[in-house]
Amino acid sequence: MNAAVRRPQPDARALVPMTVAALAEVLPVEQAAYEFPWTRGNFIDSLHAGYPAQVLRAPGAKLLGYFVAMSGVDEMHLLNITVAPAHQGCGHALFMLDAVQALARERHAEQLWLEVRVSNARARRIYERYGFRNVGLRKSYYPAAQGLREDAIVMSLGL
Ligand SMILES: CC(C)(COP(=O)(O)OP(=O)(O)OC[C@H]1O[C@@H](n2cnc3c(N)ncnc32)[C@H](O)[C@@H]1OP(=O)(O)O)[C@@H](O)C(=O)NCCC(=O)NCCS
Repeated sequence: MNAAVRRPQPDARALVPMTVAALAEVLPVEQAAYEFPWTRGNFIDSLHAGYPAQVLRAPGAKLLGYFVAMSGVDEMHLLNITVAPAHQGCGHALFMLDAVQALARERHAEQLWLEVRVSNARARRIYERYGFRNVGLRKSYYPAAQGLREDAIVMSLGL
């Protein structure tokens, strides 16, 4: 038997910088994951602005998820964190949250911020268990069905 096959598998997921070329894979995931997805233009603007943006790949390079953040003077703002629907529930969001937190600390951020839809119970629970606290509400922040708007909960993690 091939010795490589018998060796215990290390955690071979890898985060690499998001490139414009990767958007061909990112956009279909974004569209599958959200009712109101980011547009290609939203991603391009973030990449051109130099925002920290990484994609999570499985061995063999399959796209598992991605995040986009914005670095401020002493804070970081998580703008987008998404796991491909077929790969949710495997700890990939937690893995990316650890990476975002490490990046924020490296940049001497003291707080990590994010907004989440009031209706996104799953994401809210993950963030709360991770240590984020609800610190505010942005009224009518997100588009919603039938031309309506939905509030965002502002969450913050002290670093
Ligand atoms: C919200 C979202 C990012 C979470 O991603 P995820 O990879 O499914 O999350 P994780 O697997 O890291 O954690 C989720 C669950 O898996 C569990 N988990 C953690 N590590 C695990 C592992 N190794 N194996 C199995 N389950 C694990 C967690 O305890 C958690 O439990 P829960 O299902 O009871 O909540 C993902 O559902 C998503 O992309 N949703 C659509 C887009 C979205 O809403 N983004 C957030 C906008 S603010």
